[in-house]
Amino acid sequence: MEHIKRYYSKHVAINGKSLLVEGPVPADRLAAMRFDDGLKAFRIPEEQHKALVEIAALPEGRIVLVRDGDLVLGYATFLYPDPMERWSQARLPDLLELGAIEVSQSIRAGGVAKALLEVAFSDDALEDYIVITTEYYWHWDLKGTGLDVWQYRKVMEKVMGSAGMVWMATDDPEICSHPANCLMARIGKRVPPESVAAFDAMRFQNRFLF
Ligand SMILES: CC(C)(COP(=O)(O)OP(=O)(O)OC[C@H]1O[C@@H](n2cnc3c(N)ncnc32)[C@H](O)[C@@H]1OP(=O)(O)O)[C@@H](O)C(=O)NCCC(=O)NCCS
Repeated sequence: MEHIKRYYSKHVAINGKSLLVEGPVPADRLAAMRFDDGLKAFRIPEEQHKALVEIAALPEGRIVLVRDGDLVLGYATFLYPDPMERWSQARLPDLLELGAIEVSQSIRAGGVAKALLEVAFSDDALEDYIVITTEYYWHWDLKGTGLDVWQYRKVMEKVMGSAGMVWMATDDPEICSHPANCLMARIGKRVPPESVAAFDAMRFQNRFLF
């Protein structure tokens, strides 16, 4: 499958500043940017910056980010699912995982996460993919936001829902291990029925239980 990546951008006004939301951003441009200290939800900022550069260089990888000048303040990643997860079992060339979305604490709750997804999904190429996100509460910044798991789950539903991602049932044990965890997905308009069937088969692997 040829991974077409078309660049889109938009400005958002946060705290009286105009920030640029853009992507997919090529690896060399991302490597030359600075990475905000507040981007530490998943790894220390330097390591996360490096990981994002690697994702941007993958054939299927996409990084959409928000920046103030050359300072990255938030990002969303899209890439093939981790080979250790069931979502890679069928090796679907047209299934991408929205792996992480993070916005620096100083600019949260201003619509930036939704703007990241708006720019990401402006690319019509995403109509050729199933895009999934696996939400595990242990990845959420409950401490930093002061939200409880259900309030945080609501925020994630609003963010993901803004891009047309919807809740989907699954018997994946990790997702089922806590009721706030969930699988969300968006099936692009041009995804063939065979890919949807293969995705459904990955969602349910213990049918004898039902
Ligand atoms: C989750 C996260 C990406 C949201 O980013 P954000 O830029 O604050 O999100 P948005 O401003 O686009 O908010 C989306 C919606 O949630 C609401 N929201 C966001 N933060 C909120 C908060 N702390 N309390 C109440 N509502 C909140 C917004 O008001 C908005 O609601 P609306 O659609 O009704 O207008 C951000 O909190 C973050 O980086 N968290 C750490 C990393 C993480 O948990 N990532 C998710 C797992 S990969």
